[in-house]
Amino acid sequence: MPDSQDAPPVVAGCANCLIVDDEPSVRRSLVRMLQTQGFHCFEAGSGSEALGVLDRIGEAPLVISDMRMPELDGIGLLEAVRQRYPDTSVIMLTGMGETTTAVDCLHMGAADFLLKPISVSELQARVSRVLEKRALVLQNRYYQQNLERQVHEQAQRIQELFLQGVQMLARALEAKDAYTRGHSIRVSQYAVGTARQLGFQGARLDGIRLGGELHDIGKIGTREAVLHKPGTLTADEFRQISEHPALGEQMLSPLAQESPDVLRIVRSHHERLDGGGFPDGLCGENIPIEARIVAVADAFDAMTTERPYRASRAPEDAVNELRRVAGTQLDPAAVEAFVDAFPDPAELPVSA
Ligand SMILES: [Fe+2]
Repeated sequence: MPDSQDAPPVVAGCANCLIVDDEPSVRRSLVRMLQTQGFHCFEAGSGSEALGVLDRIGEAPLVISDMRMPELDGIGLLEAVRQRYPDTSVIMLTGMGETTTAVDCLHMGAADFLLKPISVSELQARVSRVLEKRALVLQNRYYQQNLERQVHEQAQRIQELFLQGVQMLARALEAKDAYTRGHSIRVSQYAVGTARQLGFQGARLDGIRLGGELHDIGKIGTREAVLHKPGTLTADEFRQISEHPALGEQMLSPLAQESPDVLRIVRSHHERLDGGGFPDGLCGENIPIEARIVAVADAFDAMTTERPYRASRAPEDAVNELRRVAGTQLDPAAVEAFVDAFPDPAELPVSA
């Protein structure tokens, strides 16, 4: 529950009240009655004058208005107040012959109506009831909004804790393996530089950063003997390793709502532009752009670090290779953005 210091505003005795009637004597008597209840009263002789007063004083919790008035009448005023000041309660004053219209006013959003001549006790009872109802509506809305905010904050916190756990797991796994140590962080850095070059910013850039860091998280489910095999993979071993993008996406599914781009990266970073990649065999622009960016970063880092099955390549050679496979395997725009972002490959943080 919210702190009591955050409690919604409650109408106090000194609240503003606007009395609207073209008869000055009726206004005066209402003002006297309401002042004894502690209200600070304003007066207006017509609907349009009343709107002018409300514009000047801001919202008033309570408007008491006659029905028949020159210029803007009570119904016109009620409509305008409901539209401009939805939290203001309007009580209509009616004569004996106007009860049907008064009922219509209730349908139009009036809080209540009072029959003339008005007695002090009747006025006090109706005003108290109307303001009590208004306070309940405001409190209800406040608690609802506050609850939604708290639920949202807790969901975010749960997601943060989940992410921290996954990031720690990814780093712990990498730390055990000399060949892939630092790979995720470097891929993330390359991908962010490339994405920035392509105009990504804000939350989309954050998605690339995180997606780059977690892109291979699904390898947790791949046997180490397969991951670190020095020679060529058998068809079955290749099938096992090909499962890591889908497995990673499944693991990170709690991020689906807040960070769908991260899931797209994890699932599609091994797709190829010519459709020969996995797991979905997507072609060209059907591959999410975030995944195409990470694929370039991943390919560069894989080539410039030593693997069990081959030695590392010089950064310049790796850039040439990226350009050679641009258009078939990698997105040419992403490759060029990578080259523009890191114009001197020799200075890249390879094999950190
Ligand atoms: Fe991968």
